Amino acid sequence: MSLLVKNIGTLVGIDQSGRLRVEGKAMTEIGMLENAWLLTDGDRIKDYGTMDKLPSVENCEVLDAEGGWLFPSFCDSHTHIVYAGSREQEFLDKINGLSYEEIAKRGGGILNSADRLHDTSEDELYRQAMERIDEIVAMGTGLVEIKSGYGLTLEDELKILRVIRRIRENAPVEVRATFLGAHAVGRAYKGRQADYVEHVCNDMIPAVAKEGLADFVDVFCDRGFFTVEETAKIMEVGAKYGLRAKIHANELAISGGVEVGVEHNALSVDHLESMGDEQIEALRGTGTMPTMLPGCAFFLGISYPPARKMIDAGLAVALASDFNPGTAPSGNMRFVVSLGSIKMKMTPAEALNAATLNSAAAMGLSHDFGSITRGKVANFYLTKPLPSLAYLPYAHQTPVIRKVVLKGVVVKTN
Ligand code: NIG
Ligand code: FE
Repeated sequence: MSLLVKNIGTLVGIDQSGRLRVEGKAMTEIGMLENAWLLTDGDRIKDYGTMDKLPSVENCEVLDAEGGWLFPSFCDSHTHIVYAGSREQEFLDKINGLSYEEIAKRGGGILNSADRLHDTSEDELYRQAMERIDEIVAMGTGLVEIKSGYGLTLEDELKILRVIRRIRENAPVEVRATFLGAHAVGRAYKGRQADYVEHVCNDMIPAVAKEGLADFVDVFCDRGFFTVEETAKIMEVGAKYGLRAKIHANELAISGGVEVGVEHNALSVDHLESMGDEQIEALRGTGTMPTMLPGCAFFLGISYPPARKMIDAGLAVALASDFNPGTAPSGNMRFVVSLGSIKMKMTPAEALNAATLNSAAAMGLSHDFGSITRGKVANFYLTKPLPSLAYLPYAHQTPVIRKVVLKGVVVKTN
């Protein structure tokens, strides 16, 4: 089945260059075509052009955009969408002055979510996660990475990963899974972190790989969580099982996570609220995508990653939501783009490139997702008519998305 979208006010995110990521100065350019049409063929983008050359296509569904804009779907390369319940009590603790680290030290935080997850059935977890998936699909996300990491026992980690697999099989959005056993030390291993790391390496990774449940491996490499040496070890074992690394690094301190990630050819290093010049330098010329999660800095009230400095240094950067119950309880990628512009001084085009092509690259999928390109997956959303590109991050709460198309099918009409 084909879909012909006509009368598109502006088609945004066009890229026929074949590049798999966009870096430095080039990030502030984004391909646009006014008064356009776009044609799909099955789940792929077939062609696009200007309305004066509208093709006549038989046997296809026609959608009139009525002057609205068409954007490539957001790619969200870092989320923890499968969790049980919520953590507003800690939200209140933060309002009353406790820091994220203090809450974690008291046994709250990730361990709190692990306790709840343990007591929740797989079906109920799936139900809760699918509600969040519906929410992000309506807000324009078409490709999402989801991490485990609220299990912290072999059985519960497998439980989350099986839920992710079920989402992958049933949701319209494309899904990739990351094993994050080293998110915190499981309660049964309290005071025995080295043993827990052994358990992750010797038992969890092989079991996860045996069931083919994950694409990537992650470690929370930060002050008070896992060390550089432990991170290296887990990445090495992951690599043996075909799992490339995506690392939580430098949220709470300059942790060494960036450097060890780069050394082990991690696909991405994520967070980066604490970055010095050396860490920026370490990323130059590498295949590791620095990924920023400004929803976390916003929620925790910590400093934002130095996006401007990184782009000016010539790096490619990606943006993702970090959707999780402790530090970023929202998967709204449009708001993430707005934070990129408002708080990190990224131009709207830079922020959009970071949230589409570069975020797809942070999942190794930018050959198929992240731009309006002939042959790529037909993932896009249509908005109401907009005065300019900058309006999207500027009017950050105005509901502008009218329709969402994923894999060539209209999946949402708002
Ligand atoms: O990316 N920093 C580590 N992990 C999550 C938070 C997890 C939680 O607090 O539940 C993050 O921010
Ligand atoms: Fe995270």
